[in-house]
Amino acid sequence: MTSSQIDHLLNENRRFAPSAEFADNAIANADLYARAAEDREGFWADQARDLLHWHTPFTQVLNWTNPPFAEWFADGELNVAYNCLDRHVEAGNGDRVALLWEGEPGEERRVTYAELTDEVKRVANVLEGLGVGVNDRVAIYMPMIPEAIAAMLAVARIGAVHSVVFGGFSADSLRARIDDAGAKLVITADGGYRKGKVSPLKPAVDMALADRNGSGPQETVENVLVVRRGGNDVDWVEGRDLWWHDVVPAASAEHEASAFPAENPLFILYTSGTTGKPKGILHTSGGYLTQAAFTNRVVHDIHPETDVYWCTADIGWITGHSYVTYGPLANGATQVLYEGTPDTPHPGRWWEVVEKYGVTILYTAPTAIRSFMKIGRAVPQKFDLSSLRLLGSVGEPINPEAWVWYREIIGHGETPIVDTWWQTETGAMMISALPGVTETKPGSAQVPLPGISIDVVDDDGTHVGNGNGGLLVITEPWPSMLRGIWGDPERFKETYWDKFHDKGYYFAGDGARLDDDGDVWLLGRVDDVMNVSGHRLSTTEIESALVAHEATAEAAVVGASDETTGQAVVAFVIIKQSYLDKNSPEGLAQTLRAWVGEQIGPIARPRDVYIVGELPKTRSGKIMRRLLRDVAEGREVGDTTTLADTAVMSVISAQVK
Ligand code: WTA
Repeated sequence: MTSSQIDHLLNENRRFAPSAEFADNAIANADLYARAAEDREGFWADQARDLLHWHTPFTQVLNWTNPPFAEWFADGELNVAYNCLDRHVEAGNGDRVALLWEGEPGEERRVTYAELTDEVKRVANVLEGLGVGVNDRVAIYMPMIPEAIAAMLAVARIGAVHSVVFGGFSADSLRARIDDAGAKLVITADGGYRKGKVSPLKPAVDMALADRNGSGPQETVENVLVVRRGGNDVDWVEGRDLWWHDVVPAASAEHEASAFPAENPLFILYTSGTTGKPKGILHTSGGYLTQAAFTNRVVHDIHPETDVYWCTADIGWITGHSYVTYGPLANGATQVLYEGTPDTPHPGRWWEVVEKYGVTILYTAPTAIRSFMKIGRAVPQKFDLSSLRLLGSVGEPINPEAWVWYREIIGHGETPIVDTWWQTETGAMMISALPGVTETKPGSAQVPLPGISIDVVDDDGTHVGNGNGGLLVITEPWPSMLRGIWGDPERFKETYWDKFHDKGYYFAGDGARLDDDGDVWLLGRVDDVMNVSGHRLSTTEIESALVAHEATAEAAVVGASDETTGQAVVAFVIIKQSYLDKNSPEGLAQTLRAWVGEQIGPIARPRDVYIVGELPKTRSGKIMRRLLRDVAEGREVGDTTTLADTAVMSVISAQVK
């Protein structure tokens, strides 16, 4: 972000106080801050006891004797799935709808807590029958259908560990994640609906598991469990593959939820880092569920008896884990689960869903809001959105214009908006307004949640003071913090803890500013991680994919600001002479865009691929991405004096035009 953009942001001084009516009925209140400030650990212990059922109550709260490896509630035992399912049924709420599922083509299924509990027990029995046990890893590669939620909960129920892989990822990406986690089982579907047609999934699993002729690690996957959804033709490996509809209904619906230690691993979720290889972020059970349930309750102001909640995130991302599966179900909420894309079969699809189900709380990403802004207000205005009473935003900074549009057009000029900052690594929300309590500011995520300690510091770890910018850090451990990177404790320390080792701060990788009130404004990543439509992508990962193509000699990737997607992937590629002789630059650019899409997944496909003769490098050979970003964003190129060859930028600029 440029300094003029930042100034523009900080001159934003519209303020929105909560209405008296909202404040009167809100779950959150200002006392939460006072209680947490008085006794932070006691505060979290209270939340853990109040919001969850413990088979064995804990006596220890935080163990931070071996930083950065934290333990929360370590001597307590619980069952995560029991907390999300059985206990609601036992409390007499079995008939409450858990999932209001809407398929992209328009089918509808209502799944009650009793039905979901029954299904999860059967799936748990199937998994155990296949030899899946405590700590075994299960990869889940599924569309947004109720079975996907059931699969996650069944894995949790038996103390195994899920690794959900976004259905838009390629077979190669799936392969890498299966190998890294050593998954024993893959749960998938034949396909799911996206953009009006069936997008196949099982074929990608087959490709990922195809015989590798002895190269690569040994195959760990023993079985593939397949839900029929798309009806597309699929190949079948006898002995390995099982249809869900053959084995799940036939399994017993009796299944006792055993108690597992609070620190039992719950899931691994892969996310992009600054280097090429995605990191498997590890989360455990008790602390994670406590913070997911607490934040979902107070920030989304969930009243389970009356609200209809809808988080639009896919379960392939952390937002889908914490605010589709675990938070809302732990709270006994009723939620919409929508399978498809926002504009299929028409651009008002989301608003139709809001009207149809009477959605009261909507949680989505700025990129979606900006694309609706582009289509124009006439589309949402065709639908009755009056049921909405609270709106949330997550995934990237929301610009004040989009914030105000969201409130005016979607929130009929009345609803509070909570802009929630957090990460795959933090597991749950960390910075956000509390609806009914905080006077909101468009564009600012504002204040740490009760029980969370953050700061904005300079490179030495010193607090920057109000009115200044720096790096966002988390200064105290929190219950849903990542417990590590799967199989790589060194990388865990290096990535998050080494930078401010002396102070023991967690380094988030985001830049931030404090305004005169001390409110936090997020300014985007300070490392080589891009944020495209709220999805994290690493420049190095895409560069590796580009150079893996036989035509590429060298490649550099930058994230350029983009009106709709926040950032867009822009690649600068040097092509081998033999390929340049035979192909047009336009053809090569097309080929490489498609190639990256196949290698990683469509979300990583570059918006632009520029074929250039050289890349700007320092004398030590480091690519100066800052200069390429200037070109990609159409700006005058900045200071080139540290380049080995200062003329190279004018050549590149000319080639890009
Ligand atoms: C960015 C998504 C500004 C940030 C939950 C962070 C945000 C990264 C916000 C994590 C927000 C997320 N305002 N930036 N409200 N929320 N980010 O792991 O750069 O997919 O580091 O988790 O998204 O992305 P992740």
